[in-house]
Amino acid sequence: MSRTIVVSNRGPLTFRAGPDGDLVAVPAAGGLASSVHRLLAGSGTTWASVTMGAADREAVSKGLMHVDGLDLVPVVVDDETYRQAYDVVANTTLWYVHHHLFDLPNRPRFDRHWRQAWEGYRAYNRAMADAVSERAGDGDTVLVQDYHFSLLGRMLAERRPDLRTVHFLHTPFAAPAMLGVLPDDVAAELLDGMAGYGACGFHCHKWEADFLGCYEAAGRGRGPGPGQARGPAAPRTFVAPLGLDVDGVADEAAADDVAAAAAALRDEVGGRRVVARADRMEPSKNIVRGMLAFEEMLVARPEWLGRVVHVVCAYPSRQGLAEYLAYAADVEHTAERINHAFGTGSGGGDEGGDGWSPIVLSLSDDRPRSLAALTLSDVLLINPVRDGMNLVAKEGPLVNTQDGVLVLSREAGAWEELELGGEGALGVNPFDVAGTADALHAALTMSSEGRAARAGAVRGAVVRRTAADWWADQLAAAQG
Ligand code: F6P
Repeated sequence: MSRTIVVSNRGPLTFRAGPDGDLVAVPAAGGLASSVHRLLAGSGTTWASVTMGAADREAVSKGLMHVDGLDLVPVVVDDETYRQAYDVVANTTLWYVHHHLFDLPNRPRFDRHWRQAWEGYRAYNRAMADAVSERAGDGDTVLVQDYHFSLLGRMLAERRPDLRTVHFLHTPFAAPAMLGVLPDDVAAELLDGMAGYGACGFHCHKWEADFLGCYEAAGRGRGPGPGQARGPAAPRTFVAPLGLDVDGVADEAAADDVAAAAAALRDEVGGRRVVARADRMEPSKNIVRGMLAFEEMLVARPEWLGRVVHVVCAYPSRQGLAEYLAYAADVEHTAERINHAFGTGSGGGDEGGDGWSPIVLSLSDDRPRSLAALTLSDVLLINPVRDGMNLVAKEGPLVNTQDGVLVLSREAGAWEELELGGEGALGVNPFDVAGTADALHAALTMSSEGRAARAGAVRGAVVRRTAADWWADQLAAAQG
């Protein structure tokens, strides 16, 4: 009987060294690993993921990398290979290319160090190809998640043509001009690697179109590798938006720790209106422009001074990367500057006095507080520069109790499902600070009937499609 093997960089369990040097287990973090874990819990499915450092490797050697009800296959890679593949190529090259984040006059610089990192990325993909080839039975289905494995499709096609392979991308895919930033041979290798998969899936049609556009450009000899041989034919593609584990998220939001966090947050904002957001601390999330838009609203419409608070929950992500640390510093600095310029008295903060801090920023990984912010907000601001899906755009409307208005970037994958012909989310161009300020004002001043209608429409769209539907679409795509 054919089985399913899941492949991802981050698995359902990682370890870190505790204060006494002991190993501390950390359950799946991030949208992808936690969504997949909820879906597969108890199913016995084989899940191959990569060790993320020394603590994970030690856990593997001690037999601790184990989750009941799953068949975990930890793929062990050394620190240097992991750094080259995850930090340099996946998260500071491919992530930047697919999200259009490069500050092009300065970055990227594809020097010999970067070339070594590309070698590391190949080795990392090969390590996964070895593990899957060894473990898979005849004709098994392999569902590969994300941009860490762009080369695995070709490697598996060459070694195990019997397998049914699917790649699902949780980020956008670069537009052709942006893919052309990569060195010609690298872009060509990436497209060839992806063409090796039986099918490639995306959260929305826009990313699928960019993906196909890259093959078309390469085929005309005008994409990556001008003057080179024509590129490969595109693989079969499909669009399958990730939905929520609706009951699971609703249960989480109803828990006592979220109620306690909501009570604390209410004290902090002191009865004022709330514009909230909850994101990983990450450049594509556009947190700084969101705060600048909030500031612009205070300047353009001074009637809001003292009457509204921007609650920003930005929890740590990929802290080994200089770019992410610099972005976090920018977020903190911007919040401080705005609070210094506009804040009054002592409060808006923990003391809850009469004073007002326009921005309440939390930097810790505090899921109950993030959920609390989503439940009590009047407006949820999600303005990424570009985002594969953005699950917070679905979680927020599901758990919100205030008929909150969703202000959503048209560059988030979720936009396709949640704009609802102009009757759902309010759309913003993520680069347009003044336009975003206007959208925040429109959301805050919308009639209660208008709010209820939009919130109901968005919630309806969120519950219509679940994570299980997304998974079923991948399995169907594997069958061809
Ligand atoms: O959204 C893309 C993605 O890679 C997800 O798949 C993942 O959940 C999230 O970013 C966090 O990434 P990381 O595992 O690098 O912390």
